[in-house]
Amino acid sequence: MINSNSDQALFSVNDLQGGYGDIQILNGVTIKVPDQSIVTIVGPNGAGKSTILKAIYKIADVTSGSVTLNKNGVITDVLATKPHNLSSIGVGYVPQIENIFPALSIEENLEVGFVNFENNNLETIRDDIYQRYPDLKIKAKDRAGTLSGGQRQMLAMARALMSSPRILLLDEPSAGLAPALVDQLFEELVKINKSGVTILMVEQNARRALAISDYGYVLDMGKNRHEGAGASMVDDPEIVGIYLGKK
Ligand SMILES: Nc1ncnc2c1ncn2[C@@H]1O[C@H](COP(=O)(O)OP(=O)(O)OP(=O)(O)O)[C@@H](O)[C@H]1O
Ligand SMILES: [Mg+2]
Repeated sequence: MINSNSDQALFSVNDLQGGYGDIQILNGVTIKVPDQSIVTIVGPNGAGKSTILKAIYKIADVTSGSVTLNKNGVITDVLATKPHNLSSIGVGYVPQIENIFPALSIEENLEVGFVNFENNNLETIRDDIYQRYPDLKIKAKDRAGTLSGGQRQMLAMARALMSSPRILLLDEPSAGLAPALVDQLFEELVKINKSGVTILMVEQNARRALAISDYGYVLDMGKNRHEGAGASMVDDPEIVGIYLGKK
């Protein structure tokens, strides 16, 4: 089993405190994301789940704590990295809302996500994405605003993948999707993970998300409340009773 407390975590949120101006929302949150794992943060509305990701992107304020990326021993201070440079260090983000450019075509949305490393090529990566998501290829020249909710979510994910991320940060990837698409989404996340991309997600659909996760965290009132192996949390009576509700 992956040891979440390992110092070898690819991505770590360490005792993070912050919020919005004078309003403190995060009261010391610690999250460890081992390389190649899927880690999920669950918790009630307003617990501060999105705020963690927003803090990383400077949409929320940090008052103390740190966020680090450890790529094979090379440690980067994520909070000292400008949001627009995060994709070039290997951190991809799919926000909870407004995660595509509706006025741009599907193709242009994908181009925006591309990051030029030494050995990669826009066309190759885009072709790869089109193979994975044939619907996006069919609509390549259409405005993204014409896509359905499920297709938009797919595009948002595809755009993040255009930067060849080491880790994807996903805020409520299943939000607003029809039940059949939710199944597809979680299957897709497992595939993305198997292709070598580490995943940290925030999800309301806690049961489904934890079931595919190596490790899970329950956040409440801006603090860590519980943590454990993802699948085991789904069966933990205390967690189910308080945080997951009845099936
Ligand atoms: N821009 C903002 N200014 C002030 N307070 C905010 C702002 N954005 C969010 N909040 C507050 O911060 C708290 C945490 O919000 P956050 O969005 O992180 O919760 P969440 O756990 O993601 O909830 P949800 O499950 O509803 O998405 C909430 O009380 C919210 O009202
Ligand atoms: Mg949220």
